[in-house]
Amino acid sequence: MLKQETIQIIKATVPVLEVHGVEITKTFYKNMFQAHPELLNIFNHTNQEQGRQQTALANTVYAAAVHIENLEAILPAVMLIAHKHRSLGILPEHYPIVGENLLKAIKEVLGDAATDDIIGAWAEAYGVIADIFIQVEEELYQKTENNGGWRLFKPLKVAKKVVESDLVTSIYFVNEDGSPLPTYEPGQYISIRVKVPGEEYLMNRQYTLSQASAEDGYRISVKRESDHTPNGKVSNYIHDQLQVGDLVDVSAPAGLFVLEETAAPITFVSGGIGVTPLNSMLQSLNDNAVNEVNFIQCARNEKVVAFSDDIQKKVNVLPNASYTALYSDEDKLITKELLAEKVADNADVYVCGPVGFMEAVIKNLQEIGVKDEKIHYEFFGPAMQLAK
Ligand code: HEM
Repeated sequence: MLKQETIQIIKATVPVLEVHGVEITKTFYKNMFQAHPELLNIFNHTNQEQGRQQTALANTVYAAAVHIENLEAILPAVMLIAHKHRSLGILPEHYPIVGENLLKAIKEVLGDAATDDIIGAWAEAYGVIADIFIQVEEELYQKTENNGGWRLFKPLKVAKKVVESDLVTSIYFVNEDGSPLPTYEPGQYISIRVKVPGEEYLMNRQYTLSQASAEDGYRISVKRESDHTPNGKVSNYIHDQLQVGDLVDVSAPAGLFVLEETAAPITFVSGGIGVTPLNSMLQSLNDNAVNEVNFIQCARNEKVVAFSDDIQKKVNVLPNASYTALYSDEDKLITKELLAEKVADNADVYVCGPVGFMEAVIKNLQEIGVKDEKIHYEFFGPAMQLAK
């Protein structure tokens, strides 16, 4: 473990590093990609351009360093990140590269203020934090393999493309040899790695599996985006250029935003394309499940809404379920009153959608007295908020 002296230096310098956080991380990525351009095949360039990932990694290192005496406290955040890393094929040999460039950037930005003692302390702390990630990720790789999955990426064949709405198209991936794919938990995602024409580097993106684990393959449902949003280039490539029969590099399912087994009532609240994990969860429920189930789906209008028929069908089968679709173009928005009506006592509530939507829904749920441990959610995009 770290010496007390090292811990004191870390604690004293975290605020200084946080003040210079954006500059340090910008310098860090610039230097790292210059020295290791191959890493541009792993990192999300759009997140880079928008500065999103630029703060996520360094902030997490700082947050972890603050808890260096009690790293257990950040284990939930570590697990979320480790799932993302495992899904992207991050390996032990990547950690020293990140460590070296992060320390170099700290030195470069802080100048003389970064004494040898300070750099030494951060090198030690980074080593401890990196070892935890490496160990947790190795356990995840092994667990994935034991579940019939694979390490890193494997080419899967596009079996079909199905238009779900004006905005959303589903892609079904299958094993090339027709053998079944391993099962997954509803709510999990896969990473896909593609070469988009005109782009120099490979691009990786995560997409939630949008149906219950099924024999006809892994289905993702992709929303058409503006080219400038984090998923735009890849999502639009999938819409416009990816063909049935093509092979795509895919990693095995990952993620911790999953349906927990419960006899309690369940309410699902989706906004826009956030319906993908929640539909997967709903469809996975046993047809005889007696718990009260309520599904609230928010979308712009009937033309862009996805899976409303599937949701309605499942709700019709379940003995005690309801479905409410709200279209904002018709001025139908989610309200606290509706939530109060559709969230039964002791219900587990699963929320997924754009960040602003989720923040509003979570606030409303808290105001009507739903306990934090009963609210389950996942932000799309970098989980920086969660890691802090
Ligand atoms: C994502 C932290 C090491 C590659 C993330 C995220 C965090 C994070 C907080 C965002 C999670 C999310 O989006 O849900 C860390 C910490 C590290 C570390 C604390 C060291 C202790 C590495 C290494 C690599 C790496 C060694 C590979 C060279 C990535 C990539 C993403 C990511 C590719 C996805 C986001 C993007 O592409 O922009 N990491 N990371 N990380 N990390 Fe790490």
